[in-house]
Amino acid sequence: MAEYSFEIPTQSVENPGNWQADVIECEPWHIRFTPDVLDELACVAAQTKAKGLQAPRFSHDDINAPLVRQNMQSVLDELENGRGFVVISGLDRAGYSQSELENIFWVIGLALGRSVPISADGALIGHVTDLGFDLSKPTVRNYQTREELSFHNDTCDVLGLMCLNKAKSGGTSAIASAIAVHNEILQTRPDLLRELYSPLPIDRRGEQGWPAEGDSPWFALPVFSYIDGKLSARYTVHDYYYQSQRFDDAPRLSESQQEALEYLRNVCLDERFHVNFQLEPGDVQLVNNYCVFHSRTHYEDYPEPDRRRHLLRLWLSVSNSRRLHPIFTSRYRSAEPGALRGGIAPRSNPTSA
Ligand SMILES: [Fe+2]
Repeated sequence: MAEYSFEIPTQSVENPGNWQADVIECEPWHIRFTPDVLDELACVAAQTKAKGLQAPRFSHDDINAPLVRQNMQSVLDELENGRGFVVISGLDRAGYSQSELENIFWVIGLALGRSVPISADGALIGHVTDLGFDLSKPTVRNYQTREELSFHNDTCDVLGLMCLNKAKSGGTSAIASAIAVHNEILQTRPDLLRELYSPLPIDRRGEQGWPAEGDSPWFALPVFSYIDGKLSARYTVHDYYYQSQRFDDAPRLSESQQEALEYLRNVCLDERFHVNFQLEPGDVQLVNNYCVFHSRTHYEDYPEPDRRRHLLRLWLSVSNSRRLHPIFTSRYRSAEPGALRGGIAPRSNPTSA
């Protein structure tokens, strides 16, 4: 691996993305689609049906949704320069079929940026639901099960989720400001923060990397990096760090690295640093991965298959994205601001998105 240097801030990083739970619970982060945008989304459902279009196989040129595009510009600004996340309610879940909602969500995604593959099969729209898979298998990922998902972020600029069905019980979402978590560790355990600014090995869980990354079954990235005055985070599902140790050629996690990972997890779990909420059917959650961690609790489904908890998922590359540390180039394809980056390289055609 190339040698990289990492700048570590000596003082807390201050910007609107640095928030704690007591402040954010008083702020209007949970917003609603305006009536005119809801009308336009209804037209999108009708237009796509009339033209025989189905996501993800259509583009901007095929539909007319200027208000959605305009509305999403302010959301993009909030994601990069504000708190880093929004939840948008108001869509009438019961008024649409699943395929209509996929088209509506796809149009929202088109207004925000470009979709990148969420899995090695090249899928551009993901389905977060319990597939009954066994997490003990090394290629199964937590989102394919009903098990708890620890605080983490995803391999793309912006994560989008649309709730189709919620669980019978559990499945509570939570988000934490990666900046506030970083600042807390800086203030309380700066020795451990240094460990989180160095590359840590991560189990790839069988997912294909982009060609520049090579085909090792593990990769290494720091949790925190600081470039151009901006703090960015990349925190993989906690267990994937430890599972990298099954590969003989992966660097061994030192005691202090393990202590740093445990400390990071505990700060995220501290109720001062995260807010809990339940995504309701029709809700859309949008998150800037570089400054917000997300998690989900274990859940139980209704017995009927068509009532199972089900979220649609988009991974988006956006035009107002920040510069990343150069170490991210191989995993993300590019560290340049605004570049097409992130996602998982499809196995069949690893050079295109
Ligand atoms: Fe995730």
